[in-house]
Amino acid sequence: MTIDQPATRPVNPRFSSGPCAKPPVFDVSKLAGAALGRSHRAAIGKDKLKAAIEGTREILGIPADYRIGIVPASDTGAVEMALWSLLGARKVEMLAWESFGAGWVTDVVKQLKLDAEVKTADYGRIVDLASVDFDNDVVFTWNGTTSGVRVPNGDWIAADRQGLTICDATSAAFAMDLPWDKLDVTTFSWQKVLGGEAAHGMIVLSPRAVERLESYTPAWPLPKIFRMTKGGKLIEGIFKGETINTPSMLAVEDYLLALDWARSVGGLKGLIARADANAQAIFDFCEAHDWIANLAEDAATRSNTSVCLKFTDARIQDGAAFAKAVAKRLEAEGVALDIGAYRDAPAGLRIWCGGTVETSDVAAVLPWLAWAFEVEIAAQAQAA
Ligand SMILES: Cc1ncc(COP(=O)(O)O)c(C=O)c1O
Repeated sequence: MTIDQPATRPVNPRFSSGPCAKPPVFDVSKLAGAALGRSHRAAIGKDKLKAAIEGTREILGIPADYRIGIVPASDTGAVEMALWSLLGARKVEMLAWESFGAGWVTDVVKQLKLDAEVKTADYGRIVDLASVDFDNDVVFTWNGTTSGVRVPNGDWIAADRQGLTICDATSAAFAMDLPWDKLDVTTFSWQKVLGGEAAHGMIVLSPRAVERLESYTPAWPLPKIFRMTKGGKLIEGIFKGETINTPSMLAVEDYLLALDWARSVGGLKGLIARADANAQAIFDFCEAHDWIANLAEDAATRSNTSVCLKFTDARIQDGAAFAKAVAKRLEAEGVALDIGAYRDAPAGLRIWCGGTVETSDVAAVLPWLAWAFEVEIAAQAQAA
C-alpha cells in the first residue's frame, strides 16, 4: 500500500529547539557590519555590546533599574554564575520537571553541596507551585525545554518574598511574558527564541539580586569567569558591555540583527503572537488526531516554544523506535530537521514554535507528520 505524500513542503524545515531557526530575514551578508578584527573594548565594540544590552531591555520591557549583562558560556554560564555567586545565604528550594531543571539541582546539591529542598515532577507535569516557600531562594526553569511544560504565569511568586527567585528563562524569553517584578535573576541565551548564536548568555539582575551580591560572599572560591563583584561592589562595567572576557563580535552582530527583526514583527507582543500561533496549529492537530498528544498534561502549562508530543496509538509496539523512525523519515524527506525528543525525555517528538518559525511552515509540516505516522504503522504491520 502506498500512502500519498502531502503536496506542500515547509519552506524552512528547521524546527530544532536550539540552536533555533534564524529569523526569516537572516542572511550572512547582513553581518558585514560586524566589528571584526577590532578590540571589543574599542568604542565600536563597546557601542555594539551596549546596543545588544539596551535592545534586550527595550524589547523585553526590562525595568531601567535592572542590570543586564552579557556573560560567557551561553545560558548554562549565566545560570551557573548566578548559582555560584548568590546561593548559600539562605535556604534554597529547587524546582525541576525536566532535564535542565534537574541539571541545576545536581549543581546545587552535588557540586555546591547545599542542603536544598528539592521539588520535582515527572515529564509532562509540573511541581506544586502553591507549596513554594519564598522565604527561600527559589531556582526554577520558566519553560522546561525538554518536556514542553512551562509555568503558567508569575502569579504564584510572592511579591513580598524574602528570598531571591533565580529563573532559567532561556526557552521563554522573547516568547512569553516574564513578570520582571517577580524575577530577581533571569537568564537566557541568544541561540534560543531569537535564533541567534550560542556562546554568550544574558543575565538580568533585579536590585535585590545586586544587594545580595554586594552583601554576601559565598564560602567557596569563584573563578574569574563567574565574578560579578570586586571588593564587595558590583562590577558595573559588565552591565554596560565591558564583558568579563572576549566576546564574539560576529555573534553580537547576529544578535543585533535578530533584535532588529524582533522590532519589525512588533517586538515582544509580535513575538509572543507568532509563537502562540505556531503552537496553536500543533495543539489543533493533536485535537484532531487520536494517535498523538501533547506531553504537557495541563493545558495551562503547555509551552508555546518547545512543543513536546507523544504517540498514543495502541498499535505502536516500541514507542522509542517508532518515534525515532518518524523523525528520521521526516528528516530524510527534508521536511523537518531535529524534531526527535530530547535524549533524556520520554519517547516522542519536539517541534520548536518560537517566533523565528513561520506558522505556514508549521502548518505545512503537520500533514507530513500524519503521513510519516501512517507509513510507520504500515511498516510495523508489514514487519510483524
Ligand atoms: C531550559 C534550558 N536551560 C539551559 C539550556 C542550556 O543552554 P545553553 O546550551 O545555551 O547553555 C537549555 C538548552 O536547550 C535549556 O533548554
